[in-house]
Amino acid sequence: MKSIIAAALLTAAVLAQDDNNPTCSPGPCVSPEVTALESSECQQYHVFIARGSDSGYPGHLGPLVKEICDGLEDCGYENIVYPANSSYAGPGMWCKSAYIGATAGQEQLKSYAEKCPDSKLILTGFSQGGSVALDILGGGGGPGFHCEDQQDSPPLDRNEVPGSHIVAALVFGAVVRAADQEYTVELERTLSAGQSAREFNGTQTRRPESVEAVNAYADILREYCNAKDPVCAKGGADASVDEHLNYFDLYNGDAAKWTIAKATGQDFEEEESSGGQLRGNDNIKESSKTASGTASATSMEQNATESATSGAVTFASFSWLLAALPALACVAL
Ligand SMILES: *[C@@H]1O[C@H](CO)[C@@H](O)[C@H](O)[C@H]1NC(C)=O
Ligand SMILES: *[C@@H]1O[C@H](CO)[C@@H](O)[C@H](O)[C@H]1NC(C)=O
Ligand SMILES: *[C@@H]1O[C@H](CO)[C@@H](O)[C@H](O)[C@H]1NC(C)=O
Repeated sequence: MKSIIAAALLTAAVLAQDDNNPTCSPGPCVSPEVTALESSECQQYHVFIARGSDSGYPGHLGPLVKEICDGLEDCGYENIVYPANSSYAGPGMWCKSAYIGATAGQEQLKSYAEKCPDSKLILTGFSQGGSVALDILGGGGGPGFHCEDQQDSPPLDRNEVPGSHIVAALVFGAVVRAADQEYTVELERTLSAGQSAREFNGTQTRRPESVEAVNAYADILREYCNAKDPVCAKGGADASVDEHLNYFDLYNGDAAKWTIAKATGQDFEEEESSGGQLRGNDNIKESSKTASGTASATSMEQNATESATSGAVTFASFSWLLAALPALACVAL
């Protein structure tokens, strides 16, 4: 009996220890608080995550999804299941991988929306996953990252299930993207440096028919791209890989507030602060409503907390990416 209790305590201790340890291999690190949100159950708000090349599930978007779900009742996520192979996997592998992501993502959205007709769907993607998310909405195909022949995949009709159940979509640092789109967020940080990501195409340009189909979602789509990110803004000055990796340190608060507003059907007052403000709504958790009353104090706190807690994660993401680079001049994705 004693030994059973001892064994139970030992197990509890081991579990408690695991709770504090993020999983970091393959990178980036993912905390257990994030993975606890993974679910295949019917939820009021369900996020789909398309991770970036060569990262583990759920990848860089984990902390953002937690921030979104912290502000919503009954919210969780599922990973879009696709290989996320980088160009290091071999010739043409990026294109093959992105095609699998585009088609698997549409299938997952469809089957979840059929199983859970009352759920509101949120689509997110980073890097290759950002391209995949845009492919899911607008259709994909053509040149990708160091490959020419991504197989064609169809767009998702905004007026039919599951397209009609998507309430928000967030894309960061997409590889295949188009210049001059209203859904590309104008970032103060890059504007003040005299550039806008709207001036540049991605590593590859998105086909006009795909851009047109993506635009059917423009009112619920936000695309984040730093003009200095060589992946999503080809030709921007002062390009640096760091600028491909800092979205989640800089914009999670802003992106989460916007998503919560879209998901709950609230007006989002863009001018109020960098993150905008939310009005009261029953689907927004009390903590978030209170927070919105003191937006700047809260975002300052969030900034402090974020920089304090994301240090390890940031370092891990950098070392993970840098380790994958044979030379700094050559980016593989
Ligand atoms: C492609 O990605 C999958 C899953 O991420 C991995 O198991 C596989 O080894 C990769 N393929 C190559 C050729 O690297
Ligand atoms: C972006 O791509 C389109 C289509 O290829 C091209 O017409 C346009 O000039 C490009 N814009 C920039 C800024 O490179
Ligand atoms: C939070 O951090 C961002 C990016 O560093 C900065 O632009 C913003 O002003 C900060 N917000 C506050 C309230 O300090």
